[in-house]
Amino acid sequence: MVSVIEPAAEVYWDAVGVIMDLEGTHEIEPRSDEEWEAVENAAWVLAESGNLLLMEDRAQGREHWIAMSRAMIEVGRRAVDAAVAKDPQAVFDVGAEVYFVCVGCHAAYAAETIRPSDVADSAAEANANRPPGHP
Ligand code: HEC
Repeated sequence: MVSVIEPAAEVYWDAVGVIMDLEGTHEIEPRSDEEWEAVENAAWVLAESGNLLLMEDRAQGREHWIAMSRAMIEVGRRAVDAAVAKDPQAVFDVGAEVYFVCVGCHAAYAAETIRPSDVADSAAEANANRPPGHP
């Protein structure tokens, strides 16, 4: 989770947005092919992590878990499409859907981590003693 999914999700979520400060409003979006490629790569990691979550020792036949893992693959592929299209609005919109998949699974299996971005800072610490078998 912390080593694979979380960093990729942060790259994807941080790729597009708006920052407001004293100097005004700044649109954030990838500006070069390299920056778009980084977003695309992060999206691939998200899509593929859905496959990792489907591994039997993790899924343990739980229907909801399997549905959430498949949703991760599906939304991850759409995240890739949005990056390939270099469409900032689509990256923003699909990013929200990615977030709902994280939250949907955590609500059932990781109640202490319902909103993953809340724990991003303490995640490195949690990584040290988290249960095995999680990407
Ligand atoms: C199919 C279920 C599932 C999905 C989808 C999922 N998670 Fe998790 N996540 C878990 C479970 C279970 C835990 C707690 C146990 C563990 O970490 O092994 C967890 C824990 C975490 C943690 C806490 C640190 C840790 O390792 O305990 C973070 C951060 C996290 N997830 C981020 C994310 C993000 C970001 C997404 C979406 C991009 C996501 N997760 C999607 C099941 C899921």
